[in-house]
Amino acid sequence: VSGRREVIVRLPGHPGRSYPVRVEPGVIAAGRAWEAALAGVSRGVVIADSNVDPLYGEQVERAVSAATDAPTLRLSFPAGEASKTRESWAMLTDRMLERGVGRDAAVIALGGGVTGDLAGFVAATYMRGIPLVQVPTSLLAMVDASVGGKAAVDVPAGKNLVGAFHQPAAVLADTDTLGTLPEGELRAGLAEAVKHGAIADAEHLAWIEEEAPALLASDGDRLGELVQRSVEIKRDVVIRDEREAGPRQLLNFGHTVAHALEAATGYRMLHGEAVAVGMVAEARIGEQLQVTGEGTADRLAEVLGGLGLPVALPPGMEPEALVSYARRDKKAREGAITCALVSRIGAPAEDWSTTVPEDAFLAALDRTRPGS
Ligand SMILES: NC(=O)c1ccc[n+]([C@@H]2O[C@H](COP(=O)([O-])OP(=O)(O)OC[C@H]3O[C@@H](n4cnc5c(N)ncnc54)[C@H](O)[C@@H]3O)[C@@H](O)[C@H]2O)c1
Ligand SMILES: [Zn+2]
Repeated sequence: VSGRREVIVRLPGHPGRSYPVRVEPGVIAAGRAWEAALAGVSRGVVIADSNVDPLYGEQVERAVSAATDAPTLRLSFPAGEASKTRESWAMLTDRMLERGVGRDAAVIALGGGVTGDLAGFVAATYMRGIPLVQVPTSLLAMVDASVGGKAAVDVPAGKNLVGAFHQPAAVLADTDTLGTLPEGELRAGLAEAVKHGAIADAEHLAWIEEEAPALLASDGDRLGELVQRSVEIKRDVVIRDEREAGPRQLLNFGHTVAHALEAATGYRMLHGEAVAVGMVAEARIGEQLQVTGEGTADRLAEVLGGLGLPVALPPGMEPEALVSYARRDKKAREGAITCALVSRIGAPAEDWSTTVPEDAFLAALDRTRPGS
């Protein structure tokens, strides 16, 4: 079969913790892939949101039941970030307990990053942890959320503040499922792929720019290639630093500003859109601090703009409005603003995390206003 791709994530420590990321059209219905992913598992619990369950739930249920030789429990929850809560976690785990799901079961997270994080947290905690198979169906989940083992729910104090590290047994990324993904969500996923290029691989970034028309037209083979390269980059960062003591912070490039923007707009911007603006702004911050080479921000704006992503603050948004949110960011230490910067396209800054003086932050954001 053409278009079959695989990335192996080899975590340091014991070899049983390595897992494959299979990137392949049709893989969600492929019996052999499921048999390998569910080896030793006697029952599957498929968790999907209300958009994805009607599209792909049945296919996956059938394949999982065949691989485990047992009926599969299928659970769903309302789509959207608002469902990534302790309440949803309680509802899902209660259903599993009612239905007698034991330690011999595995959770299958079928959907975007919300499902991956929520179902991942269910798998991490149910009976102190049961196996997890990630089946990402959004581009963002394929290139980012499904790999690396972070699982979490949002709480009133902030996003992702209660969670666990729980590595999947396998990731099955079926690029055919991207055919039903809304275009805005596809662009949002592309922003994270651009981030991978920006922090680690200038060629990946140039390739995305060149292939933008095919990628935006949902060309399955191009998307498969994109997912493979992005997963390789994320893997190479994650295996050096599973628990984000140092290098993994690189993946936060653009995210200090992005998180502030998301909070300041009441989460009306898609995460990937906020990351697009955030990368341009943080490249400007880096240029201001002479950590980042001149022209980096303009280059990022060119590539991201070409993908139809926003590269400036929303009209009317004042840089001052973002400062307090940036200080409250999970990564902020003692109220200082910190960013993970790049030195140029394809290379991180020397330090994983740079403290940004408020005046530099404001000046750079001022230059990221629309029309400036
Ligand atoms: N764990 C990590 O390392 C990590 C990394 C990045 C992001 N995240 C988390 O991921 C979440 C964002 O992920 P997301 O953007 O995938 O959001 P999402 O899961 O809400 O998916 C976006 C939308 O697309 C729909 N959808 C997904 N796949 C579809 C398909 N194939 N066809 C039609 N519709 C489809 C969903 O129902 C949803 O409405 C955030 O909660 C973020 O915190 C986690
Ligand atoms: Zn992100």
